[in-house]
Amino acid sequence: MSLKTLVTSPISGFALFVLFLALLLRFSITSQRLFTTEELALFNGTDPGLPILIGILGSVFDVTKGKSHYGPGGGYHHFAGRDASRAFFSGNFTGDGLTDSLRGLSSTEVKSVVDWRDFYLRSYKPVGKLVGRYYDSRGNPTKYLKGVEAKAARGAQLLEKQKIEEAKQPQCSSKWSQDEGGEVWCDVGYPRLVKRPIEIALTGKMSKRCACFEESQLGQPGLEVYEGCDYNANRCKV
Ligand SMILES: *[C@@H]1O[C@H](CO)[C@@H](O)[C@H](O)[C@H]1NC(C)=O
Ligand SMILES: *[C@@H]1O[C@H](CO)[C@@H](O)[C@H](O)[C@H]1NC(C)=O
Repeated sequence: MSLKTLVTSPISGFALFVLFLALLLRFSITSQRLFTTEELALFNGTDPGLPILIGILGSVFDVTKGKSHYGPGGGYHHFAGRDASRAFFSGNFTGDGLTDSLRGLSSTEVKSVVDWRDFYLRSYKPVGKLVGRYYDSRGNPTKYLKGVEAKAARGAQLLEKQKIEEAKQPQCSSKWSQDEGGEVWCDVGYPRLVKRPIEIALTGKMSKRCACFEESQLGQPGLEVYEGCDYNANRCKV
């Protein structure tokens, strides 16, 4: 029987189709390998014969191509062989800093961790899921993961709102150098410090930004002249 008749004969065509499905299924299963914490720990980069894996929000990625960063002695070696989701935000690699819990983080902080996961999705090969906080023993997302994703979406909305608000009042130009320190200036208008109200909802902390106001706006409440800077100056040392 020639290949052509094999493929076109209805029964072997069906068999090939089943074979194809089986391969597809096998592929999707192997690309969705489930890891326990202990299994993932073996891929910490110390054994050069094994790939280097990291977990973030329960998704496991093969980062072997970034060996210089993730291998022993690399700046990101702390992430190898574990899920240290929180440290992507905190940069704290000591003790409990290396946890996958995002407890107590604000919505934008949670969003920054989700953004990191999306970076790995774009840049590295996903190889499976870590069973635990983010995925259950069947590889399905847990309530915790859904909660994290919902919180990150709220963070994204708040940031978008802040961006729209702040676009209404142009930002100061700024520069900084070791010798001269910092400077802010406005090509049009005068630099003033203003509160960022949405920031409180975002991080629980009040922060300020520099925005440019025209002469007619300078009487608005809440505008702060830089310390040591003239009321009418359009450049201020900071
Ligand atoms: C790192 O991985 C090696 C094997 O690849 C394993 O023997 C070792 O226990 C792991 N280290 C930790 C801290 O899990
Ligand atoms: C890192 O996290 C640990 C445990 O939560 C904490 O004790 C330590 O103070 C943190 N370090 C920094 C630099 O935040």
